[in-house]
Amino acid sequence: MAKNLLLFLSLFTFFIISCSDDVMHVSDLDVKLEKSVRDAAPDNSLDYWVLHNSKDLENIPQDPRNPLTPSKVELGNFLFFETGIALDNKFDAGKQTYSCSSCHIAEADFKPGRMQGIGDGGFGTGNVGETRLKHESYPGAADLDVQGIRPLTVLNVAYSAKNTQWNGSFGSGHANEGFEHRFSDDVDAGLALNNLGYEGLETQLQEGFSLHRFKMDPAIADSLGYIELFDAAFPDVPVEERYSPLNVALAMAAYLRTINTTEAPFQKWLKGDKYALTDQEKRGALLMFTKANCTSCHSGPAFSDTRFFAIGVNNLDELATFVDEPRALNKNFGRGFFTGNADDLHKFKVPTLYNLTGTPFYFHGSSKRSLREVVEYFNDAIPENPDVPTELIASNFKPLGMTESEIDDLTAFLANGLDDPTVERYKPSYLPSGLCFPNNDIVSRREHGCD
Ligand code: HEC
Ligand code: HEC
Repeated sequence: MAKNLLLFLSLFTFFIISCSDDVMHVSDLDVKLEKSVRDAAPDNSLDYWVLHNSKDLENIPQDPRNPLTPSKVELGNFLFFETGIALDNKFDAGKQTYSCSSCHIAEADFKPGRMQGIGDGGFGTGNVGETRLKHESYPGAADLDVQGIRPLTVLNVAYSAKNTQWNGSFGSGHANEGFEHRFSDDVDAGLALNNLGYEGLETQLQEGFSLHRFKMDPAIADSLGYIELFDAAFPDVPVEERYSPLNVALAMAAYLRTINTTEAPFQKWLKGDKYALTDQEKRGALLMFTKANCTSCHSGPAFSDTRFFAIGVNNLDELATFVDEPRALNKNFGRGFFTGNADDLHKFKVPTLYNLTGTPFYFHGSSKRSLREVVEYFNDAIPENPDVPTELIASNFKPLGMTESEIDDLTAFLANGLDDPTVERYKPSYLPSGLCFPNNDIVSRREHGCD
């Protein structure tokens, strides 16, 4: 009896100790992390970092000229994946074979699965776009729809939508205030659209509609089964203007503003689930907000910003690519190409840090192939591109002195803590046209199981 009691007591004590040990351990790290996350928020709150749920249309950041409604988001969701509108194809083989999601593939965190995406003129998809190739009937790179820079993800774009693209050239206000003299097609195609006064996302997608070779008119909307969807989304627009490229752009922008990475473990941690992150990821998060100083540039709920910095990475043309035309090379100049100021050369948009594992291509020139390499690059702070003058490099791009295990911790936080593994939920299960997507060429159709 006494023996049993002793056993019971020792087991009980063991349980209490191990339990409280665990609780102490978790909470100590949580307390530290919570303090650093609050300190980095302008209002000292955890809520500041919480991304808006896709259904929270009232509070998602939006362009007052393009208010979010469920019908507009639904229309934009279909159109973003719609291959039926791919009707401004350069050669016959491209007709109705591509979509916005040729280069922003849901399964690849809305990137193309290769360092350069191909829209019109490409064929094949593979699992995540990694095997998409140039179609033989498109003679040269200049005939393809490709860009001379690695595609940005469109996840969380609502949080940096006032000025979009790596050089922030779209959007009439915010960072672009004072640069109205650059809102001209003489500077770069489509920039005159900034004069319409929309935010960056709404402006860019008007340009993107023609750049990526789409068409829309009442007959097309009708033939693809979209009339009712446009009617519901734009009831106040006169019917003769309703089925238009502008409304395609506005609906797509509305949809893109809702596709936020709200199911990432760090988001769950912010909302109170302290077990959503492992201890290693918490240590990594703590580094990101403190010693590694990442949030001095990656600010805002999506760790993305409409500020521009030079961190001296290589351009895409250092690697074998499809594009060598002057317009593509202009992309290498970053923000400076848009503003026309030498001080802004080689500065690029601060991209979101959520969902970084869908493709192994990092930085605007795809110069890094793994997240650990990216973290090491910031830790060493040695610019890799000799063409970027030292005086242009951001002053807070400096050696961090992290140990190997700290580098591991920060990498683990980026790879897992900031990864929403369910972003495929933002992909429709069918299209009103009934066509195959994201690509609809013969090879992709077979790969997607459409035939
Ligand atoms: C041929 C590949 C390709 C296609 C097709 C494509 N994109 Fe992109 N997308 C890119 C590239 C490359 C960038 C980065 C360009 C830059 O910043 O200069 C980009 C950037 C963007 C951005 C800016 C994100 C940010 O954070 O600033 C948005 C939004 C976007 N694309 C939406 C779309 C939409 C909507 C469509 C269809 C109308 C589309 N894209 C079609 C390649 C593509
Ligand atoms: C000086 C400002 C600055 C600091 C500090 C900074 N970043 Fe960045 N980060 C950027 C900019 C700007 C880019 C895009 C650069 C480019 O591609 O030209 C970027 C790109 C990245 C990318 C690549 C994302 C992609 O889509 O390719 C990752 C990952 C990243 N940063 C993580 C971090 C981490 C982790 C830290 C802290 C160790 C950090 N950054 C510190 C400005 C900064």
